[in-house]
Amino acid sequence: MSYHRMTLSKFLLEQRKMGLIDPGLGSLINDIESACKYVAAAVSKGKLASHEVSVGVNVQGEEQKPLDVIANEIFLKICEQGDQLQGMVSEEMETPYIIPPEHRRGKYLLIYDPLDGSSNLDVNLTVGSIFSVLRAPEGEEQLEEKHFLRPGREQVAAGFTLYGPSVMFILTLGNGVNGFTLDREVGIFTLTHPNMQISPSTKEFAINASNERFWEPPVRRYVEECIKGKTGPRGKDFNMRWIASMVAEVYRILIRGGLFMYPRDTKDLSKPGRLRLLYEANPMGFIVEQAGGLISTGRESILDVVPKSLHQRIAVILGSKEEVELLNRYHKDY
Ligand code: AHG
Ligand code: MN
Ligand code: MN
Ligand code: MN
Repeated sequence: MSYHRMTLSKFLLEQRKMGLIDPGLGSLINDIESACKYVAAAVSKGKLASHEVSVGVNVQGEEQKPLDVIANEIFLKICEQGDQLQGMVSEEMETPYIIPPEHRRGKYLLIYDPLDGSSNLDVNLTVGSIFSVLRAPEGEEQLEEKHFLRPGREQVAAGFTLYGPSVMFILTLGNGVNGFTLDREVGIFTLTHPNMQISPSTKEFAINASNERFWEPPVRRYVEECIKGKTGPRGKDFNMRWIASMVAEVYRILIRGGLFMYPRDTKDLSKPGRLRLLYEANPMGFIVEQAGGLISTGRESILDVVPKSLHQRIAVILGSKEEVELLNRYHKDY
């Protein structure tokens, strides 16, 4: 066994030495890493765990699972102690959590989805956590909701984890995407997937096909053409996937390319999509674009959207560049 491996901590230190990140950001990513290890441990207990937390309905009307609440608390407790943050926002909290005055006033804001794909917990499939880091306001200005409403292009770091057959930590600091695997016996994340790249073309797409009757014409056209396969206008056969866990879908796309969509539909006209801009679309968009892929609503790049509210939903089309461009074209034609 080689002990000279690139651990996540060492990787962050090297980024610091090269002047690519400041010590505060490195320290924050280390805190997020610790939180993710605790969440991984909690998730892996499955039914053996006895949860003594009260669950309810979150701000978007979803029934919480005990692990949604536990993972949310783990992030809050660990990351507030690190002194690098001014505040946090998550899927499971209606309003921002402002770091209390006993902690040092940090330079960053953390936005996160503590457990993504949590409907898969009961069936023991891969879930994960998603995070996005923004710069906090400078000076003595009181932190407010508006400070979190920044376009995705302003993220300074983003990442996600997979709690699957192996635990993984995928990270971008704005200079490419790197993947780390947890060595469970020693509790260390090691760089196993340096410089991840999404192939520009693919023969695989992912969409919840049970919503077909609500899709808009450009999406309908795209999927119909994929399904026609070799004899259709695309001239090749496509494969379809749907895990109902965005972390697992994006990871698959990082490994072997593909297209993932949760598009705008007519199911509920008050919602412009299913996924949330701040803690799902933006961090995944930053990662996908850093790996050479694209993210779009079909009409505009998600990373340019100026958020209006913390839990705002948005249409998401992401993955291999050529497929996202084709969908953008179909939306334009329509
Ligand atoms: P969350 O578990 O954080 O609420 O997010 C679930 C999301 C995403 O992971 C997935 O792509 C999508 O919801 C699944 O939606 P369907 O239930 O419509 O398949
Ligand atoms: Mn949820
Ligand atoms: Mn989610
Ligand atoms: Mn979630």
